[in-house]
Amino acid sequence: MKIRQNVGRCKDPHNSWEYGSFTIKKEMVFSSVKKLEKVVGNLKRLSWERFYNIVIPEFEYKVDDHILEIEMEYIKGDYMKSIHHHNVVYDELVARDGDWSWTDYAPRNFIVKDDRIHVIDLDSFGYIKFEDRQKKWDQTYGIFAPLIRSYRGKNQLDAKLSCSDLDYLRLKKLLVCVFNAKVERVEEKYYAKIDNSTYDNLEQLMVHLRLVYNCIKNAMDLNPPSHQQRKNVLKELRETSWYKATHVL
Ligand SMILES: Nc1ncnc2c1ncn2[C@@H]1O[C@H](COP(=O)(O)OP(=O)(O)OP(=O)(O)O)[C@@H](O)[C@H]1O
Ligand SMILES: [Mg+2]
Repeated sequence: MKIRQNVGRCKDPHNSWEYGSFTIKKEMVFSSVKKLEKVVGNLKRLSWERFYNIVIPEFEYKVDDHILEIEMEYIKGDYMKSIHHHNVVYDELVARDGDWSWTDYAPRNFIVKDDRIHVIDLDSFGYIKFEDRQKKWDQTYGIFAPLIRSYRGKNQLDAKLSCSDLDYLRLKKLLVCVFNAKVERVEEKYYAKIDNSTYDNLEQLMVHLRLVYNCIKNAMDLNPPSHQQRKNVLKELRETSWYKATHVL
């Protein structure tokens, strides 16, 4: 386990320890020996798998009387929140080559310390195909999922634009950069079509995009709204067919 030095980090004269280590122990009981053996096999594999932008804390495990005990470095940090960190987790764990990765993408399983993401739920590592990882990601993040740079899942906005060239260029930039949408130029009677809803002019489209943006902001909890504000945004958005057709929050 890593030994941490407190000297220099803490100027408080009452906090005088100099060397120490933080560890956390997780004990698990399984309903069958088969399940226990599966997780032990997964942990064995995890100990030699390589990750590049995600840190696996140092860990040790043992089985004692059918109880699996994992002891690992305690990571003192915050749960991941930023889009950047979600991008890293998506690229490294969901879009990863092969069929071995994490099976749970909830933000509480990722702790950011010194701008590095540490994955802590070690028993959630296992055999999971890309399609199932994508499904788990969709289930966990819903409307927030399309904001991830390389996301190509079912929640990605599908935008068809039939507006003037100038509007097309501006809207394309907005839709791709802010919403990570798929954008296509078409010649139709409508001004724009987002998933299954059509919009007759820029104003109508912007009203809709503003709502989507608010909804994403709420889902990301960057600037937590009050309960009532959250309910109002969801109510307004629920009235649009795009939301009905694609999302359950
Ligand atoms: N190494 C660690 N460093 C810091 N905190 C940890 C560590 N391991 C676990 N925790 C804390 O304990 C919580 C639960 O851990 P873990 O995810 O392993 O358990 P779990 O049974 O999967 O729980 P959950 O269903 O909430 O994810 C984490 O969200 C985190 O707050
Ligand atoms: Mg967990």
